[in-house]
Amino acid sequence: MDVKREVVRLAPSILAADFARLGEQVAESENAGADRIHVDVMDGHFVPNLSMGAPVVASLRRVTRLPLEIHMMVSAPDLFLDEFVEAGSDSFLVHWEGNTNLHRTVQRIRALGKRAGVAINPATPAVVLEEILQDVGQVLVMTVDPGFGHQHFLHSTLHKIQRVRQMIGQIKPECELGVDGGIDRDTAPLTVAAGANVLVAGTAIFGENDSVETAMNRLRASATRQEQQPHAA
Ligand code: DX5
Ligand code: ZN
Repeated sequence: MDVKREVVRLAPSILAADFARLGEQVAESENAGADRIHVDVMDGHFVPNLSMGAPVVASLRRVTRLPLEIHMMVSAPDLFLDEFVEAGSDSFLVHWEGNTNLHRTVQRIRALGKRAGVAINPATPAVVLEEILQDVGQVLVMTVDPGFGHQHFLHSTLHKIQRVRQMIGQIKPECELGVDGGIDRDTAPLTVAAGANVLVAGTAIFGENDSVETAMNRLRASATRQEQQPHAA
């Protein structure tokens, strides 16, 4: 397997942040080298939880230059795209599950001038990506069932990450491969070895006793070590 890939990108998920200090925590992650901010949007229907909407994005837009990546865990993402774009979003991750018109959703995102990515849940096979891959800039493999932070990483998703990496290599090599859920210093290296190059992490960045910077450095170091291992051998 080709293990020489570009640097792994960190996408802090603010779901685990202290919302009373959100701006501060986002600034800390920006200073610590975050590549983007991952915003989890939940509607209580697509997933059994509620989180945040476009006003949060508008507030974040005023305090960070980082791209704002919106993970749409909602039943009808098309209904919300305009207001999230208006609020200052840069990219959208939309789920394959439950979207009978995924191609249309992806094209709408692109027509709005934003980057589109497709997320797949743990029980969804990689093969569903085959016809949409050429239209997206990122695949997000969910490594937990979406809806909550602080869940255990599902090791059964590792094989799928490898399969998606192969498909990306064949169909669209520049497409990013993100992983989301239960990513920490132990699981990050496994996902990077399997082919991930974007790590979404909430608890491992905002939920530690250490500073955001220390937590991010630790996560980055764990992923980098794994990347370099084959070269050192
Ligand atoms: C889960 C969300 C994740 C979540 C990850 O539905 O999509 O982005 O914030 O949280 P951790 O890193 O705590 O597993
Ligand atoms: Zn997410």
